[in-house]
Amino acid sequence: MSAATKSAPKPAPKSASKKTAIPAPAPKPTAAANGIHPGSLLSITQLSLDEVSSILALADKLANEPLSKHAELLDNRKIALLFYESSTRTRTSFELAAKSLGAMTTLVSDKSSSIEKGESLKDTGLTLRALGAECIILRHNASGSPYLLAQQTGLPVLNAGDGMHEHPSQALLDLRTILSRLGKKQAVDEKTLDGVTICITGDILHSRVARSNALLLPRLGAKVILCGPSQLLPPEAVQLSTGITLERDFDAALKQSQVVMMLRIQKERLAGLQIDLADYQRQFQLNDERYAAYAPNALVMHPGPMIRGLEITADIADGPQSAIEEQVSNGLAIRMALLARALTGGAA
Ligand code: NCD
Repeated sequence: MSAATKSAPKPAPKSASKKTAIPAPAPKPTAAANGIHPGSLLSITQLSLDEVSSILALADKLANEPLSKHAELLDNRKIALLFYESSTRTRTSFELAAKSLGAMTTLVSDKSSSIEKGESLKDTGLTLRALGAECIILRHNASGSPYLLAQQTGLPVLNAGDGMHEHPSQALLDLRTILSRLGKKQAVDEKTLDGVTICITGDILHSRVARSNALLLPRLGAKVILCGPSQLLPPEAVQLSTGITLERDFDAALKQSQVVMMLRIQKERLAGLQIDLADYQRQFQLNDERYAAYAPNALVMHPGPMIRGLEITADIADGPQSAIEEQVSNGLAIRMALLARALTGGAA
């Protein structure tokens, strides 16, 4: 057994076969415990609502002030992007966020690096640290891997999506989008989203986006409805947090919702599951007809990548109520704030 495997926190199962339950959450990191750097963001559950408010406030400031004000905030600091899975918006926004704060970045992907030769996550992390990396942004297909990297390197690690576990920066950018579209203050508390119902629909089982959102939004008073067929939404999902309900009937869920978040079917994780796509589309696609009939004013969200014509139609994705591009732009602001927090403690 490698040292990496020995000291890893028990990750949720990686295999997509024989899945009946939403995997158990990885342990909550405590600041500085287990050598984890307090600037790390491994799970959305590690942040208090005050910390969420500070990150949102910093994101707001960085997004609205002239670039010249923060162009040297992370002057020459070294940030490594370590990606074991494909990514467009998460990777690019982290990279552009780092560069717009003056940092140097380097990208290591599982293709064309020594990872292909079998190098472990621990050794890759230690190599990046030896080269001067001061922060690592990690996307990995194994749930729990950011905890291992943070423990082994002592560097601030930002979780850019780990397996079927979490995607905390996505939950923060989604929150920034919801607050600004609903005209709510960025200083959040447990009542900020009182009376707001958010329906998350689709492949909940495999979605780290759904999990991070479901762990965050009810803490602000939102009611979260998870909606999807039983293969993609096991009944245990209701236990993720208080304030969550399950609904199999998308029309009934839409009728109650002010916000609807659509998810891609994660074909790469479907092993062993049989999904009749035509039937899925009939029951769970967000299209004009359904939207007009049941939620004509709802805010439409999608973390991307979208499969147009499957979970969402082009008319809806490009329609006036769609916040999908705003989500992407908000990713840049949130990730600037997370990098500043990781490397300066949040002072900007
Ligand atoms: C998601 C991811 O990778 O978890 N995308 C993203 O980061 N915006 C969702 C997906 O892959 O469907």
